[in-house]
Amino acid sequence: MSNSDNQPDWAAIAEKFDLWLPQIAPVGEALLEGLAARPGDRIIDLGSGTGEPALTLARCMQGQVDITGVDAAGPMVDVAQRKVKDEGLSGIRFMHMPAEQLDFADNSFDRAMSRFGVMLFNDPLQGLKETHRVLKPGGHFSIAVWSTPETMPTLLWSYQAFSKRIAEDAAPPLHKVTSLGRPGVLDEMLAEAGFREVDIVPHTFHYQFDSFDAYWDIVEASDILKQQYDALPKDQHAAIREEIAVLANVHMSDNGLVIPHEFLLATGVK
Ligand SMILES: C[S@@+](CC[C@H](N)C(=O)[O-])C[C@H]1O[C@@H](n2cnc3c(N)ncnc32)[C@H](O)[C@@H]1O
Repeated sequence: MSNSDNQPDWAAIAEKFDLWLPQIAPVGEALLEGLAARPGDRIIDLGSGTGEPALTLARCMQGQVDITGVDAAGPMVDVAQRKVKDEGLSGIRFMHMPAEQLDFADNSFDRAMSRFGVMLFNDPLQGLKETHRVLKPGGHFSIAVWSTPETMPTLLWSYQAFSKRIAEDAAPPLHKVTSLGRPGVLDEMLAEAGFREVDIVPHTFHYQFDSFDAYWDIVEASDILKQQYDALPKDQHAAIREEIAVLANVHMSDNGLVIPHEFLLATGVK
């Protein structure tokens, strides 16, 4: 999926995205706690990527819930669906579908979730309106979005380092990724989509790496900044790594590189 807001090309990096899953696992735990799925629930996961946190839920509640993940990038869906097959999981499937146009009847699901999907949708409000439409009256949602730029150091560092060297319209997607993080923005959008009893709580968790090199090796191996590297003259690649290593150094400790990040966990009811 190419796009005009500099997101990673999710389709192109689908096979590499799992390199990040250990880092964002705590977000999935909080999200599933907020979801409070019950046996018998029909559940939708929006922007389900390579399958998390839907797969974790399916493993925990094997056979007791019915989960459908949807994602706009076909290769992401393929990776998730391969895990279902390899693990022989039942009651879970992934489908290629944009969140803004869900191919489900009104009132189809008891629960809806999304980890780090909603702010990346082309039209987040339309995605939330669709989520509202397919939830049953009284159905719950649990959604995690990134918070503000200052609380997302890794992307902020990349933005600072690249935006000095390449055009703003090619810079890392700091604005899109944190577009729902400012106080009031997500609340207003969820209300406009029709949700009630909305509760939004900031949570801090930590990226943890043995060293800066261990962190940056994953950045490079996952191609998460491929568009930005492609826009950068080759002779400046090393300078980016060195500059970000200096910024990251404030988070080096005896435990390695431990970087706090904040996300907003939103829960509520249709
Ligand atoms: C940061 S990844 C998160 C994946 C997964 N939820 C996780 O937490 O591991 C964001 C995902 O949102 C998907 N996405 C972006 N825009 C979308 C849209 N309009 N509809 C559905 N999925 C979308 C991307 O393809 C990508 O797989």
